[in-house]
Amino acid sequence: MTILVTGGAGFIGANFVLDWLAGSDEPVVNLDKLTYAGNPETLASLQGDKRHIFVQGDIGDAALVTRLLAEHQPRAVLNFAAESHVDRSIHGPGDFIETNIMGTFRLLESVRGFWMGLADAPKADFRFLHVSTDEVYGSLSKDDPAFAETNRYEPNSPYSASKAASDHLVRAWHHTYGLPVLTTNCSNNYGPFHFPEKLIPLMIVNALAGKPLPVYGDGMQIRDWLYVKDHCSAIRTVLKGGRLGETYNVGGWNEKPNIEIVQTVCKLLDELRPKADGSSYASQITYVTDRPGHDRRYAIDARKLEKELGWKPAETFDTGIRKTVAWYLANPEWVAHVQSGAYRDWVQKQYAGDAQ
Ligand code: NAD
Ligand code: TYD
Repeated sequence: MTILVTGGAGFIGANFVLDWLAGSDEPVVNLDKLTYAGNPETLASLQGDKRHIFVQGDIGDAALVTRLLAEHQPRAVLNFAAESHVDRSIHGPGDFIETNIMGTFRLLESVRGFWMGLADAPKADFRFLHVSTDEVYGSLSKDDPAFAETNRYEPNSPYSASKAASDHLVRAWHHTYGLPVLTTNCSNNYGPFHFPEKLIPLMIVNALAGKPLPVYGDGMQIRDWLYVKDHCSAIRTVLKGGRLGETYNVGGWNEKPNIEIVQTVCKLLDELRPKADGSSYASQITYVTDRPGHDRRYAIDARKLEKELGWKPAETFDTGIRKTVAWYLANPEWVAHVQSGAYRDWVQKQYAGDAQ
């Protein structure tokens, strides 16, 4: 048996592939376009491992995907591939529409063609698991209950709107064509191999480089944070036992304002890599112009996944963030290699006008 993972050179997809092959001998076909966010170095430990078949390509390339499906006969397709950064979606939504909506549509069609041709038993066992986000539910105010699977979709950014559209396509391919789909909607992830354009790795990398730590607006926007390996275990759980056509919210029960996240990162760095002059990394915190349309609060009610499938996160925020900071300190080479070309251009464009 084999699984096909898309976007497996990105942050969550690569963590998923590494964890999967650490716990199972079932091969993984990894289809990734290698955009700026795809980093083959993250998968370096799998070099020469015959269980990992890496293919550079686009989920929207029907001929390629159809060939891969026919050749490898996977029992499941897990779709991690996406454009994933909200700020980039504000500067240029085109790629988000192309990959997240059109790409998912074309992938669904290729997978449907393959699935329809399967014999009864593999057809019944086949799964298409779509990895999505809590951002499709929009923004909560302070006292609103956390997002449940029954909340209506109210996406506010081009990123979340494109993910919402892809979730609707996945749902429709189940209801109309019977494709055996599962969807997960997860909160903000953090952990090893996270591209330093996102809040937590950006803060670690900037702090160590002596640069400002840019906090948007008043820093009181709230996110729920989940250690990436817990997200991976949730996806394995849903793949194994999830009810067809259902969506499952995944979260860490860890709501925190951004400024508190940044202060925690600074405290850990003060402890693990104290500055020569004895000052705290927190002195580098700089409030910058807010993100347009910035969602105020996300919170996830993950009780359905816990009740139906017994999944719970293994890490608390305290244990997960300590592991994360320690990982970045232990892997300066990975960080240095990521900080080239596209990444530097992006940082310049995003923070133009703010002190760097
Ligand atoms: P990422 O940006 O780090 O990685 C995305 C990967 O997809 C990259 O390797 C990129 O090369 C690849 N890719 C992009 N377009 C492609 C295409 N057209 N064809 C094939 N590959 C393509 O993203 P991530 O943070 O790992 O997120 C993975 C998935 O999880 C996304 O669908 C995202 O919406 C979802 N998600 C992310 C978070 C989070 O906090 N990062 C939370 C919930 C859900
Ligand atoms: P991010 O990691 O981009 O994830 P998302 O927008 O998908 O939640 O951002 C997390 C939060 O941190 C979000 O509220 C925006 C904020 N943020 C900053 O304050 N400064 C930054 O430099 C970045 C990248 C994000």
